[in-house]
Amino acid sequence: MENTIYLFENPEILAEQLSKIFYKTITNKSIFTVAFSGGKTPATFLKYLANPIFKEHFNVWNNIHVFQVDERMVPPDHSESNFKMIKELLVDKISIPYKNIHRIHGENHPDFEVKRYAEEIKQYVELENEDPVFDWIFLGLGEDGHTASIFPNRLDLINGKNICEITTHPITGQKRITITGKVIFNARRVSFIVTGIDKSKVVADILQHKPEADKYPASYFCSRDGITEWFLDKEAASKINS
Ligand code: 6PG
Repeated sequence: MENTIYLFENPEILAEQLSKIFYKTITNKSIFTVAFSGGKTPATFLKYLANPIFKEHFNVWNNIHVFQVDERMVPPDHSESNFKMIKELLVDKISIPYKNIHRIHGENHPDFEVKRYAEEIKQYVELENEDPVFDWIFLGLGEDGHTASIFPNRLDLINGKNICEITTHPITGQKRITITGKVIFNARRVSFIVTGIDKSKVVADILQHKPEADKYPASYFCSRDGITEWFLDKEAASKINS
């Protein structure tokens, strides 16, 4: 499966163009399932999705079910909560039915929440051979090559049997819950959103299939039968072919 690269001058233009693609792509399926990553990068994209310039499309959110790729195990009002960002920048700005929001409950004990969230995914996301098939998953990329909350010390989660797992941030020790490779591989569309010069080396290593990319979880992720694409700004793409 090849990676398709979309290159933009800066994060704002990337976010605006990706929002246009998003609203143009959303089919009139009764349920369209999308999963957003956390971290800082998605903020600009989430803001643009809720930008009044797209107001005419906001009715699509009645059929869109919003999930999380991963979450830090903190309460939803904690400054590090990924859901807090998704709620403040998108959910609170558009009219989306409460039942369409499927957050990871960071306030719960991880052992309980990892099972609860997996069941919620299976309840609302189309299943093929009992595995969820998301319509669209948006992924970020860490400087260490992690994506979702699958860190380099957990390459076992790339082909593991569970759809959700508990992981631990290798530096902070913070507990996370994340979807796994099984879910990402099954998705109809996987879009990485990566911006900034700090990510340029890991982006180049992955997209140029350099040997060092083998230690990066993100290098393994592409939709098996669907679309895998990289939305990059010029800074993040600056070391490709250098
Ligand atoms: C998280 C994210 C994580 C993120 C990368 C990039 O919970 O932190 O899901 O996987 O995508 O760490 O983070 P930035 O966008 O902040 O660089």
